[in-house]
Order: sequence, then structure tokens, then C-alpha cells
Amino acid sequence: MTARTPIIAPSILASDFAKLGEECRAVAAAGADWLHIDVMDGHFVPNITIGPDVVKALKPHVSIPFDVHLMIAPVDPYLEAFAAAGADLISVHPESGPHLNRTLKRIRELGCKAGVVFNPSTSPSVIEWMMDEVDLILVMSINPGFGGQTFMRSQLAKIARLREMIGDRDIHLEVDGGVTVETAPLCVAAGATALVAGTAVFKGGPAAYAANIAALKGG
Ligand code: DX5
Ligand code: ZN
Repeated sequence: MTARTPIIAPSILASDFAKLGEECRAVAAAGADWLHIDVMDGHFVPNITIGPDVVKALKPHVSIPFDVHLMIAPVDPYLEAFAAAGADLISVHPESGPHLNRTLKRIRELGCKAGVVFNPSTSPSVIEWMMDEVDLILVMSINPGFGGQTFMRSQLAKIARLREMIGDRDIHLEVDGGVTVETAPLCVAAGATALVAGTAVFKGGPAAYAANIAALKGG
């Protein structure tokens, strides 16, 4: 049996920030399914990136869904701003807020799909009692904060465990960090349905984006 073609979500963290709109249009035209937007606050993770105003400015540039990965604490006060800015999926780390269930419910109330992100040290059990409150599970195969890190193979077993927990529910299982043409098939084989890729998509500049995305989808 051949594995299903994964959704590819380029992380704009690896793009040229001086030409952000152009870069988003280029990856969308090159076959990207979602746009992965990494939001960092210099507190929850040791890096600072972009806020809701930038998300809002990018929205008219592409029509593919915005997959917004929030690495900020507290997170609840900013959900509304990201939803209003055009986020379609909003993912949060359980460690970033006191009440994950409340946060997920709020994301859905705002009209977005709700995602939970697992750091490498976070156990799948965090979500055991909330399987009907999530639309997306995002497994970090690196520690969050920076692009260009090496894929942690230890996370493959977690992906497989979460795939079992999902069963036949309509929940995306996404992997983020160090996804390359070598590691993408391992993620898909473990049960991933969506792959975030920064370095592996943006390397080589716009002329290479279509080939880079096709290679991650399995050629
Ligand atoms: C890191 C981010 C990732 C990152 C992935 O905290 O969540 O989305 O951009 O970058 P690569 O694909 O280069 O590992
Ligand atoms: Zn991310």
C-alpha cells in the first residue's frame, strides 16, 4: 500500500522576510497546501518573529489556509487577534496556558480549527481527554524556536502513538522540524498527514520551490 500524499505547509520562517508577500505567493503557486506561520515571543521560546498585523498583511496575498503556530505565553489574550487577522488553523502548546481545554474551545468559537502542539518532551497523554476538541495535532520533531535544526527520530514513535489515538477521527497529524526529503517518508509512514518544512522548501530560492515541494510529497 502506498502512503497518502501529505499536506505540505511551508514555514515562512525560512523565507526572505524582506519580501514576505512575494515569498508566500511563490510557495502557494509552487504547490503548497497550507502556509505555516511561526509566532514567537522571546519568552515561551528564545526567538521573536511576527505578530497578528503581519498575518493580516499577508492574508490577501494567498488563498491557501493559514496554519498559525503560536509559541507565546500567555496565549489566550492573543487568540482573537490572530483569528481576526486571518488564521484558519491555530495551534497552541499545552505549556503556554493554564487551561488547554478552554483555549481549544475558544479557538473553535472564533471560527478556526484548533490544534495542540507537542514539544519533544510532551506526552501524548496530555490530549487523552480532549480528542473531540482538536482538529489538528502537531508533533515537534525539534525543540521550538528556530528553523534549520536536526529531526529527532525519537518522535516517530510518538507520531505513531498519536495516529492510534486519533483512530478514525477527522484530525490532521502534522510534523514540524527538520522535515527533509529523507525524513518526510518516515513521518508519513508513522501516520503523519501534514508536514511543515522551512529549510527544505525555501532552499535554492523561488525557482526551486515547486521541485522542493514535489519532492516532499514523494516525488
Ligand atoms: C520552529 C518552527 C518550525 C521551523 C521549521 O519552532 O516551529 O516551523 O520553522 O523549520 P525547518 O523546517 O527548517 O526545521
Ligand atoms: Zn512551526
